[in-house]
Amino acid sequence: MGTTVKPYNAGGKKEEVEQMFDNIAHSYDFLNHAFSFGIDILWRKKAIKILKKENPKLVLDVATGTADFALEAVRMDLNADQIIGVDISEGMLEVGRKKIADKGWQQKVVLKRGDSENLPFDSNSFDAYTVAFGVRNFENLEKGLSEMNRVLKPGALGIVLEFSKPKKFPIKQLFSFYFKFIMPVIGKLISKDKRAYEYLPESVQAFPSGNDFENIMIKTGYVDTKVIPLSGGIASIYLGRKPR
Ligand SMILES: C[S@@+](CC[C@H](N)C(=O)[O-])C[C@H]1O[C@@H](n2cnc3c(N)ncnc32)[C@H](O)[C@@H]1O
Repeated sequence: MGTTVKPYNAGGKKEEVEQMFDNIAHSYDFLNHAFSFGIDILWRKKAIKILKKENPKLVLDVATGTADFALEAVRMDLNADQIIGVDISEGMLEVGRKKIADKGWQQKVVLKRGDSENLPFDSNSFDAYTVAFGVRNFENLEKGLSEMNRVLKPGALGIVLEFSKPKKFPIKQLFSFYFKFIMPVIGKLISKDKRAYEYLPESVQAFPSGNDFENIMIKTGYVDTKVIPLSGGIASIYLGRKPR
């Protein structure tokens, strides 16, 4: 899959990603919504509409970060008994726990430190998983996808939301300029992490999107896969099921 893009180029990708998200956790939600003009919320809502059709009782939100996806699902009346969010960054989880407590939703959303490539759950446990803007940060993508597949019940759905690469003029050119030249400057000022918002466009550029990503899902054991491009291909939803 080409060269590994890491935040600081000083150690292992997993440790660096954990450190980077710990560093930017305080400003993550603000910058996320500001940089996308709130469109990321619409993308999450679209993914949650797909999730709702599955009527899942137990949902795993991998790379849950500050629990934005899980909380949006509860807000949208996802009728699940529980959503369990896992993340390697304790800093991000800390922000998420505060948001959950503010809503009084501690029974509905439970956060746990955990690595997507070695999930602390039994096989065949979950009715669905979601992972929003997480897979690009995995150290070993295939391991993560296989591991998330392992914890799904047979026939259950995995939903991946991730940045992709728009191919058409003028979205491709506009997005590329904004992503490479505007975001890193503002991101550095507000998050105080020089590399975090340089790593973002670099990691998106190096990451497989569209059918390339779908093929990796197939390779790692998913069936009934589907790619749904969003906003001209700036992001995509990828779906795949564990075989029955
Ligand atoms: C861009 S944030 C996305 C957070 C959230 N899902 C959202 O939609 O806002 C990516 C998250 O992936 C987490 N992450 C990266 N690698 C991980 C891994 N191997 N296991 C669990 N979480 C991971 C990071 O710590 C970070 O919180």
